[in-house]
Formats: sequence, C-alpha cells, structure tokens
Amino acid sequence: MSVKRPLAQPMAQAIFAPMSEQPPSKGSDPAPESPPENPTHFGYREVEAAEKGSLVRGVFESVAGKYDLMNDLMSGGIHRLWKGAMIDLLGPKPGTTLLDVAGGTGDIALRALDRMATAQDDGENGAGQVIVCDLTADMLQVGRDRAIDRGYLKGLGWVCGDAQRLPLSARAVDAYTIAFGLRNVTDIDLALREAQRVLRPGGRFVCLEFSHVVLPVLKELYDLYSFQALPALGAAVTGDRAAYQYLVESIRRFPPQEELAAKLKATGFAGVRVKNLTGGIAALHSGWRV
Ligand SMILES: C[S@@+](CC[C@H](N)C(=O)[O-])C[C@H]1O[C@@H](n2cnc3c(N)ncnc32)[C@H](O)[C@@H]1O
Repeated sequence: MSVKRPLAQPMAQAIFAPMSEQPPSKGSDPAPESPPENPTHFGYREVEAAEKGSLVRGVFESVAGKYDLMNDLMSGGIHRLWKGAMIDLLGPKPGTTLLDVAGGTGDIALRALDRMATAQDDGENGAGQVIVCDLTADMLQVGRDRAIDRGYLKGLGWVCGDAQRLPLSARAVDAYTIAFGLRNVTDIDLALREAQRVLRPGGRFVCLEFSHVVLPVLKELYDLYSFQALPALGAAVTGDRAAYQYLVESIRRFPPQEELAAKLKATGFAGVRVKNLTGGIAALHSGWRV
C-alpha cells in the first residue's frame, strides 16, 4: 500500500536555493474569455502563457497513477530502450550529482542510480545523487513510492518545482537530464537557461524528447497511430482521452531536431549533438556547459 510522505529529502537540501516563487497552484489562473494577450500553445489550443503550467499539471495529475502502464502500452516498451540510450549517452559515473528535471515517476533517476552503482566496485546503491524535480506532486509521489518499494534507499531526492525557475543554486549539479518534459514547458529558452545556470562548468545536458519523424513511410503510419489509436487507448486505460490528445498535439508543436539544437547553441551549450531514435520518433539532444 502506498503511503503519502513529504517529498523533499534532506540529501538534496544543501544545494537548493530558497524558492522565491512556488509553481502556481491548481486552478489559480483565470479562464480566458477573449483571445489570449500573451498566447502560447497547449497542444493545438492557444492559451494564455500564464495558464499553461496549470493546464499541464492538470494533465499529469489526471494520469499519474496509470502513467507508467500507459508508457509501456503506448510504446510497446520502446520508451525503455530510448531511456536506456539516454543513460548510455550520459554515462553517469559514481559520485555524480544529477538533476532530472520533469523527472515524473523517476524512470531516468532509477536508471541513472543503477548505472552509477554498477560502475562502482561494490555495486551498492548510493553511489551518486539524483534529484528528481517535477511540476506535478502526484507524479513525484508515485515515483517516490515506487523507488521505496524497489529498495532505493539512498541518493534520491524529490522536489516539486518548475524547469523555468529551478529551486537550486547556480553550478550545483554535474549533469542535467530532461526526458519527455521540455515539450510541456511554456518557455523552452528559459528552461535551457536554467539548465545552464544550475550546471557546473564541464557539466552535461541531455534531453530526450519526442521529435519529428525523418522517414516518410514511418511518418504516415506514426500519424495514423498517433491521431487514431493513441487517444482511444488513453481513454480506455486512464479515462482521460484529452490528456493523450494533448500528448499527440504537443509532439507536433515541439521544435524539430535542428531548431532545438540551435536553441541549445544559442543558450551557450558547447558540443551540441543530436541523435535520432526510431527514425526520429524521439531524439536525444546533448551538450556541455562551458
Ligand atoms: C511525459 S512526463 C515525463 C516523465 C519522465 N521524465 C519520464 O520520462 O517518464 C512529463 C513530466 O513533465 C512534468 N512537467 C511539465 N512541465 C514541467 C515544468 N515546467 N517543470 C517541471 N516539470 C514539468 C510533468 O509534471 C510530467 O511529470
């Protein structure tokens, strides 16, 4: 049985900066009646930029309990291979302090801890530190319960926060990861600048995100699957069709590979690389903080 526990853990407190502003609370934003003054997209909808965080959090609050199951069902387990590829690229060494932003239920965090433990002689967990930061407390709660159930007792911290104003001091971490999270962020450039701020010089940035299919035949099949099957599957499993319609639409609105790489370079990351996964359905973007 899962028990509600406080999310912040002492391990991570030393590197947290005081939060001047908490993420906006659910339902605090006014519903726009006229065209948004400062528009952004939420899937294919135009919404007020200040409202998007609450809408995104609403999506993940709704699906948190079924999130991991849905990932396996939607991707036929392929998301596991993509996440494995992300950890291979990152190659976290024992002693690394990793910040996993939009870390949700902790998939990347647990994989990174496993890799650090394997690289350490005794294979014990606790070989490094991972802080999972996410906007949605319900996702973190599922992750924290899962980690405890699986025996991850050391080296993990969970914190509720926004990628656009991370509750960490400058130069606090050796590595920054964000998997399937950047697409949901209102201001991607701001989130990239925050990544740059919290990374120490020489630190690594790796983003795993849905991207744009580069094989024409695959694109047709993928579009058919995305728009026809996915929302129906989401509705059947979670009861929330709109959440999975948002998923499909948000993927189409996300910048293509070259555009995101250009944003990384413009932020100041060096050695920016892009690696397509499964014909560009997903892609890894990486760079170094100089
Ligand atoms: C698709 S899930 C990815 C979870 C996990 N990284 C994974 O790969 O399984 C996206 C996560 O991004 C979080 N998120 C969305 N916007 C965010 C923001 N501005 N800052 C931090 N987390 C955010 C959501 O709460 C959600 O948990």
